[in-house]
Amino acid sequence: MDFFALIAARHSVRAFQSRLVSAEQVRRIVGAANRAPSAGDRQAYEIVAVTSSDRRGRLMRAALGQRHVAQAPLVLVFVTHPERNRERYGDRGAQLYCLQDATLAAAYAQLAAQALGLSSVWVGAFDDAEVLAAVDAPPGIGASSLLAIGYPAEVPEATPRRLLEDLVHQETLSNIR
Ligand SMILES: Cc1cc2nc3c(=O)[nH]c(=O)nc-3n(C[C@H](O)[C@H](O)[C@H](O)COP(=O)(O)O)c2cc1C
Repeated sequence: MDFFALIAARHSVRAFQSRLVSAEQVRRIVGAANRAPSAGDRQAYEIVAVTSSDRRGRLMRAALGQRHVAQAPLVLVFVTHPERNRERYGDRGAQLYCLQDATLAAAYAQLAAQALGLSSVWVGAFDDAEVLAAVDAPPGIGASSLLAIGYPAEVPEATPRRLLEDLVHQETLSNIR
């Protein structure tokens, strides 16, 4: 599928079939994430691929009971690894760049999942400490996002977007509304 058609076809799915995501699909998804740019190419994030129902249940509870988190056969947990950036970039690297790195990687993973015929939803509403505990994260690691991935069990509705005329500003923000 053409790249722009792929982007247009992606919609969040919050109901998943029990059909599993294969190991090869997981490898291709995280492989795409691994191609994302990062500050200084330091990739100051980690990805945890969670498939066990026990951990998916813990992640669901961490995500304020959002059932699609436990229902999806695969949950990718993107966490920041600030210390990979601190030496070179100081606080800006440890606070901002690692979050941007992790976010970009998750965005690439989400589109890769779509390209493989899978569906997904990005989950950001969660208790950080509970997410980190669910994946046995050591101190110093920060929660960034969850991607719940699987075969869709619903046809999602397309969501609206802002008009480009409202979103994009020519040269200056002086006309912001
Ligand atoms: C930072 C962020 C946090 C989000 N958190 C959640 C969430 O906790 N639960 C959920 O069901 N969807 C969540 N979403 C998905 C958005 O609701 C969804 O992407 C948005 O409504 C646009 O719909 P679309 O993905 O179908 O284009 C999140 C998306 C982003 C980017």
